[in-house]
Amino acid sequence: MDGAVPRFRVDVLTLFPELITGYASQSLLKLAISAGLVAVEAWNIRDWSKDKHQRVDDRPFGGGPGMVLMCEPVIDAYEAVQAKVERPGLPVMMTPAGRRLDQRLVEELATSERLVILCGRYEGFDDRIRQVIRPLEVSIGDYVCNGGEVPAMALIDATIRLIPGVLGDAESTEDESHSEPGRLEYPQYTRPRDYRGLAVPDVLLGGNHGAVAKWREEQSRARSQRGVERTDSNPGAAASG
Ligand code: ADE
Repeated sequence: MDGAVPRFRVDVLTLFPELITGYASQSLLKLAISAGLVAVEAWNIRDWSKDKHQRVDDRPFGGGPGMVLMCEPVIDAYEAVQAKVERPGLPVMMTPAGRRLDQRLVEELATSERLVILCGRYEGFDDRIRQVIRPLEVSIGDYVCNGGEVPAMALIDATIRLIPGVLGDAESTEDESHSEPGRLEYPQYTRPRDYRGLAVPDVLLGGNHGAVAKWREEQSRARSQRGVERTDSNPGAAASG
C-alpha cells in the first residue's frame, strides 16, 4: 500500500461490528482493502451511548413488541463518523421499507466515493433518525432480516466489484448476470467433460469462437426469459417494497 486515499470507503454503523470486520477480512474484499482500493470501517453505535449500561434502545411509545433504536446514540455516532474523514459520505439506511437493491442502484452507489451505512436491529430506528439524517433507504428484498448487517454486506459485496481494479479482469463485470437489466448469464462448464452422464455441450469443445458466442447468446436469452416467467408466475416475487 502506498498510503493513498482509497477510491471507495464504507463506514458501517452497527451494534455488531464483528459481523462486518469478519466479512471484510475474507476473500475479494480483503484483497481490495490490502491493495488500498477500498476501505471498510465498522463502528459500534454503543460507543456513543451516554447511558451507564451503554443502552441504545428503548420501548416504543404507544406500546407494541420489541425495542427501538434511540435517536441520540445513532445520530451522535453518525455525525462523529461522518467527521472522521474529509469527504462526506452518502448516508444509507438498511431497511425493508427502502428502495429495492438492484444492479442499477449498485452502479449508482459505486460512483460514490464514500458510503456511511446505518444498520438497525430490533424493531427498527426511531423515525426521527431518518428525518434528521435523510439517508438513502435501501432494502435487499421483501423479507425481514434480523438486522441490517447482512443486507449491508450484500450491498457492499455487489458494489465493490464495480470499483476499478477490484476484479482482476475489468471485463468480467460486463458479461455477467444483470449487467443489462433482466439479462442473466449463460451457463458455464469446466472439467471434467462428462460428469455422471452429463456431458459438456459439444459447441464449447470445438474451438469455434463464433459458434460459442452464438450459443452463449441464445442460452443467455433463454435463461433471461425463464427468469421473467418465474417472476410472472409468482406475484410475491414481483411485489415492490
Ligand atoms: N433490515 C431487515 N431486513 C432488511 C431488508 N430486507 N433489507 C434491508 N435492511 C433490512
